[in-house]
Amino acid sequence: MTLDATIQDKNDKRAKFTSFAESTKADWENIMVHLETTQARVADRLIEQLEYLRHDFGGFPVNRLEHCLQTATRAERDGRDEEYILCALVHDIGDNLSPYNHAAVAAAIVEPAVSKANHWLVAHHGIFQGYFFWQHIGLDPNARDNFRDSEYFDYTAEFCAKYDQVAFDPDYKSAPLEHFEPIIRKFFAPRDRSNETIN
Ligand SMILES: [Fe+2]
Ligand SMILES: [Fe+2]
Repeated sequence: MTLDATIQDKNDKRAKFTSFAESTKADWENIMVHLETTQARVADRLIEQLEYLRHDFGGFPVNRLEHCLQTATRAERDGRDEEYILCALVHDIGDNLSPYNHAAVAAAIVEPAVSKANHWLVAHHGIFQGYFFWQHIGLDPNARDNFRDSEYFDYTAEFCAKYDQVAFDPDYKSAPLEHFEPIIRKFFAPRDRSNETIN
């Protein structure tokens, strides 16, 4: 049975409750199985969301997908590991969902799959990027200094300096999205979540 057919099968078996208070253990046994199949499709959803960025330039020299690909490609060609490359690839995936809060969107997506350092990097990259241009939009380019005490300050500053803020070159030959799909699928593959809470 294909994944889509499996999900359809699960969809056919729906709970009858109209409120959580009247739900049963049997209802939740089915719902929790369904949650696993939803998780199994997260990689596909992330790839789709990245594709949405292909048509969005937002005034920048390259479209938002190319910026993500260029950031990830630069990281890969500099010898970074797969987890780092994944974070580089998706760090701006929320650009068209919540532009002013896009770093938090990406951070929430990667948090279950990456280290604390890489989560912190993704979550704070927006403020650290500000170092390179916020003087032009009436903000403090040194706002990142509020995080000088963080053990991840230099790590995040390096990401922005070497890979993110330079990834707007229309002449750079980035790897295509297909090149990175195996990494996305690897890090967002279903896993045992029996000890995790659902937020
Ligand atoms: Fe960003
Ligand atoms: Fe970026």
